[in-house]
Amino acid sequence: MNIRGIVLAGGKGTRLGELTKVTNKHLLPVGSIPMVYHPLKKIVGCGIRDVLLVSGTEHMGDFVELLGSGKDHQCALTYRVQDEAGGIAQALALGETFCSGHRCLVILGDNIFYSSVRPMIEDSSHHPDWAWIGIKKVPDPGRYGVAELKGNQVTGIEEKPKQPKSDFAVIGIYIYPADVFDVIRTLKPSGRGELEITDVNNHYLKQGRMGYSILEGYWTDAGTLDSLYYANQLVREESPIFG
Ligand code: G1P
Repeated sequence: MNIRGIVLAGGKGTRLGELTKVTNKHLLPVGSIPMVYHPLKKIVGCGIRDVLLVSGTEHMGDFVELLGSGKDHQCALTYRVQDEAGGIAQALALGETFCSGHRCLVILGDNIFYSSVRPMIEDSSHHPDWAWIGIKKVPDPGRYGVAELKGNQVTGIEEKPKQPKSDFAVIGIYIYPADVFDVIRTLKPSGRGELEITDVNNHYLKQGRMGYSILEGYWTDAGTLDSLYYANQLVREESPIFG
């Protein structure tokens, strides 16, 4: 498939307290497998064979030990180190040479969800030079990027707004055209000192190059104690589709 896969598995995981004192969040269990298997299996399940994993210096060795070349997961893995946690867009920037002109499917390593990503790839394939986001109605949109919708269009995305303009969270599944790396170069750090993926998305939005798919089935992040527990509950009740 003419699209590359990227799993972003960096960050300090501080919201998980003692659980991430000596390990990386994405190595913690969700169901019977480490968290990072979930995004990886989603990507490979779509037929993507070239996958990049980005993580920090502290635990990259553990990821290599766990996943190796990727052959047990029917893919070829590339690893890139993010020297310091500087945001999702900064981590994504490390994928430039890996993507070498291809589109990329990016999944945040702590996003756990039921459906296949195939429908989203199919939707986006009609506009290969657009960015494509997944959205999902949630009870607590203020914890996430929030998409404002008018009719069939996304009209704005706000990162963790105090007064969300909708219930639609922008989930951590993104498809980008090859020029995403040029877009990231134009970004300035946000108030929390990070290069924000929401700024990347708003760039495409302003250019009229943004589409979305609504994800079916359950979705959660697993970056807090409550959401990690919830993610485990969800996958035990109904196994995700890895196809
Ligand atoms: C990040 C993004 C946010 C998105 C969320 C999905 O938030 O910044 O836009 O909705 O992932 O999991 P973070 O996990 O950094 O708080």
